[in-house]
Amino acid sequence: MENSFLSADETGKKSDFISACRNEQHSRVPVWFMRQAGRSLPEYKKIRGTGSILEAASDPERAAEITLQPVERYGVDAAILFSDIMVPVHSIGFGIEIQPGIGPVVENPFESTEDLKRLRKLEPEIDVPYVGETIKILSQECPVPVIGFAGAPFTVASYLIEGKPSRSLEKTKALMEQESEIWDSLMNQLSDITISSLNHQIESGASAIQLFDSWAGLIEPEIYEQKVFPYSKRVLSSINNSRVPKIHFGVGTQPILHLIAAAGADVVGIDSNTPIDTARAKLGNEIAIQGNLDPEICLQPIEIVEKAVSEILTLNNNNFGHIFNLGHGVLPDTDPGVLSHVVEMVHSHKLPERKDG
Ligand code: CP3
Repeated sequence: MENSFLSADETGKKSDFISACRNEQHSRVPVWFMRQAGRSLPEYKKIRGTGSILEAASDPERAAEITLQPVERYGVDAAILFSDIMVPVHSIGFGIEIQPGIGPVVENPFESTEDLKRLRKLEPEIDVPYVGETIKILSQECPVPVIGFAGAPFTVASYLIEGKPSRSLEKTKALMEQESEIWDSLMNQLSDITISSLNHQIESGASAIQLFDSWAGLIEPEIYEQKVFPYSKRVLSSINNSRVPKIHFGVGTQPILHLIAAAGADVVGIDSNTPIDTARAKLGNEIAIQGNLDPEICLQPIEIVEKAVSEILTLNNNNFGHIFNLGHGVLPDTDPGVLSHVVEMVHSHKLPERKDG
């Protein structure tokens, strides 16, 4: 299916979000929020059901409705597919559960060569047909571009190895440093799975993709460069459709920002500790930047939120390559009214015409 959202230089439905991803002229700063779907919205809690999120995500009608909820409520410029980064590895039977309030839990974590046999190629039409069906429904019903996504091989590997969310990633670091061959095979297999998943989402109608390497900032820059970067680069360079913008995001990535870009991103997602002007000084003005309001600030009084939003807009200095977002996902206790207000504020900031044409 063709992507129906085109940038300002093409005919068809115009999108500020797609234009900003390509650093092209548009009039209004686009905004969406990571983890905008299914977090704090009461309408989500209503239709979420009592099963696992993996069940809700595998029901196309329900997943499409949850994806649309934040678009309708907040008026954001992009929708993110309701799914999870663990869906592909779950679908091939690795034995993963997502526990509410905790996150991905693996029954038998990845430990040795033997465990490589528990992974195989992803056949999207057979393993995750519901992902394609959800995106097809959204292609008809969603008024804004739909962002498909995947976890980067490293972040997914960290869950498979640790067995549960971990801040230290001790076992992951030990494996990558001491068992080079196993690490290489694991990362290659996960890269293949990620590539199939992203291309399937694009073929089904996703207008942009985001690669979440959420925990990439937890390892040393030299190790990132040797043990993680080559795989993310392979993933991003294997996207079949060159017109679909690629967003690459991680937390704590300031020291490796040039590599996050060099992996093949059109847009670099920055966290709240990396001011936009610092990111631009490292990356230049050609590449687009997404971010970076601190999600914690959204829990503060509205005046503080307003100040933080204008600071980001000021630091961006009317650069067209900016997609307003949070520095990480929406926190569950966030008042949806605050996010609506952020969208209004961002949209009321008008960008001037580009002087250089
Ligand atoms: O906007 C959206 O929420 C879209 C759907 C989405 C989910 N997970 C649904 C979800 C997206 C984009 C994700 C990505 C994801 N999942 C990431 C990358 C983003 C990030 O936060 O860094 C990661 C690391 C995961 C793994 C994961 N899934 C964790 C750590 C958790 C538990 C903590 C949490 O975020 O609540 C999940 C569970 C999860 N994924 C929920 C949802 C709606 C909550 C569980 C539920 O409703 O039962």
